Amino acid sequence: MNIILMGPPGAGKGTQAKILEDARGLKQLSTGDMLRAEISGETPLGLKVKAIMDSGSLVSDEIVIEMISNRIDQPDCVEGFILDGFPRTVAQAEALDKMLHAKGKDLNAIIQLVVDEAALLARIERRAVETGGARADDNAETLKKRLDAYKAQTAPIVPYYEGQGRLKKVDGMAAVNIVTEQIADILDGAAKIA
Ligand code: AP5
Ligand code: MG
Repeated sequence: MNIILMGPPGAGKGTQAKILEDARGLKQLSTGDMLRAEISGETPLGLKVKAIMDSGSLVSDEIVIEMISNRIDQPDCVEGFILDGFPRTVAQAEALDKMLHAKGKDLNAIIQLVVDEAALLARIERRAVETGGARADDNAETLKKRLDAYKAQTAPIVPYYEGQGRLKKVDGMAAVNIVTEQIADILDGAAKIA
């Protein structure tokens, strides 16, 4: 089963992806985590994207499309994967459709975590405290830029998938376990259709 989890910064994509990994044996593919690993490893790609990520802007479509295309071919994705933070532009969504078609794979569910923007700063600030500031972009100023990028570049994916009748929405303001239940209901429905 292959799933997309979408939503703005702090919506709970990573939280729910990890729960799904454990519950369903799917692989979480977070482009943000992959890029942060490149930065920690001081690879050429990491050095290239660090300033962009620290500023709250999106890295180029080409970089993340290639990253995901390579990653979903790995053996640990055979049972399925959860895309967390990808696609993030309409060009990425189109490239994903094309690459999945070419690889003979499909998407079982595209789920949007719907949240109030006003709640996101508190979540990000709490995570910054809990992780000892592990993420350079977890601060009020950069969150604002990440939200601007979400609205300008990522939100247009919603009508792209809605137009195809493929998007399901869940209330991302509910408690973590309730969000998990809402997602489970969608996936169990999708599994029956498939
Ligand atoms: P990325 O790492 O994807 O970050 P993001 O989208 O900004 O989202 P977050 O990871 O901050 O939030 P989340 O939705 O995962 O929430 P979480 O579960 O952690 O991207 C970072 C950067 O990488 C981008 O800015 C860009 O530069 C680059 N990038 C990545 N992908 C890209 C792409 N495809 N194209 C181009 N550039 C790309 O939860 C947040 C907090 O809230 C946690 O503390 C959690 O405990 C809490 N929480 C979660 N759920 C709930 C709940 N229901 N109730 C209360 N608290 C909750
Ligand atoms: Mg995340």
